[in-house]
Amino acid sequence: MPRFQILVCDGPSCGITHESDRLVTLLKAGIAADPGLKTRCYVAAYNCFGRCSEGPTCSCGRWPPTRRAKSSRVR
Ligand code: FES
Repeated sequence: MPRFQILVCDGPSCGITHESDRLVTLLKAGIAADPGLKTRCYVAAYNCFGRCSEGPTCSCGRWPPTRRAKSSRVR
């Protein structure tokens, strides 16, 4: 099942002017309240995306899959 990450800019424009920390809080609360999303979505504050006048800016995408442990070899 695909997993997703949502990165929210906390750079100077998005973070201070547009209070992107509130967006992070709301996203985390919404995801935590949904059992179907809770294990599949990751939200974090991130650096400036370079689109400061359009903020608060977010990036949504696939959350990289975790690496599986190598199975032990049978001898
Ligand atoms: S401060 Fe958010 S994109 Fe630059």
